[in-house]
Amino acid sequence: MTDDSSSTAFRPDILAGKVAIVTGGGTGIGAGISRALAEHSAHLVLASRRRAHLEPMAEEVTRLGREALVTELDVRDSEGCEACVAAALDRFGRVDILINNAAGNFLTPADQLSERGWRAVVDIVLNGTFNMSQAVHAALRESGGGSIVNITTTYVGTGAPFMAHSGAAKAGVMNLTRSLAVEWGPEGIRVNAVAPGLVEDTEGARRLAESIGIVDDYRAAVPLGRLVRTDDVAAAVLFLCSDSASHITGHEITVDGGASIGGLFKQVGDRIDIVR
Ligand code: COA
Repeated sequence: MTDDSSSTAFRPDILAGKVAIVTGGGTGIGAGISRALAEHSAHLVLASRRRAHLEPMAEEVTRLGREALVTELDVRDSEGCEACVAAALDRFGRVDILINNAAGNFLTPADQLSERGWRAVVDIVLNGTFNMSQAVHAALRESGGGSIVNITTTYVGTGAPFMAHSGAAKAGVMNLTRSLAVEWGPEGIRVNAVAPGLVEDTEGARRLAESIGIVDDYRAAVPLGRLVRTDDVAAAVLFLCSDSASHITGHEITVDGGASIGGLFKQVGDRIDIVR
């Protein structure tokens, strides 16, 4: 999506005056989300462990005419999360949107996963989402209600081999989404999730699918015939952050071209095959 593109269904000013924090906002899915939020007039707080990952996106946000604040943050550090929100308030005076996108993952059989490996992924994905949500809560309330969107995954619903750590952590995030939606709804804060399938051109795709050569088989099993694009995920996030979703909370939008609803069955010409 760009300013002069017709690919967005939303007015370019739907987030005018709003401030959004995006964790992991400089690369992959996070970059697509940051871009979409800025294209629709939000100012951005870009947070991740590596400043170098954020600077190019900050420049892009500035070129779009919005302001960008870059903050180095490991979401496992709850004090760091509080400092990130404090820096956002110091710079912009408000926070309206939090996108919990930062994640960590790698493929390992569960019986070989080290305790530190398990802890690293659960800490980033589940504890990190909680840390940032807790840190931003008061600011969202004071901005008159805000929106949190957590990036989950389709294998929360199905399970997936070699990703027990990530799947369990993301399943925790899904319940956290519902729990915070219920608890913070009366304060006007909405909490939702977006669950992408395999997203092309991302570190996740390289680490989790390309490295073991399953991309073509995966694509062949997607009813809509292609992998997810970062723009697809960003559009769902944008909708959930917009006033058009003002009565939606505690829910998840799946963005996977139908990959997770076909089950084991695949149409091959005029017959049905079992997905290998
Ligand atoms: N296979 C097996 N174990 C791995 C691993 C891999 N590819 N990568 C990390 N680990 C294990 C480490 O071996 C270590 O355990 P050990 O000390 O028992 O050996 C543990 O995980 C912590 O690793 P470390 O690199 O110290 O953690 P970190 O906090 O620096 O990194 C990770 C976090 C583990 C998530 C790392 O993979 C990472 O930084 N990834 C980049 C971001 C990412 O994953 N994006 C998501 C793509 S879907």
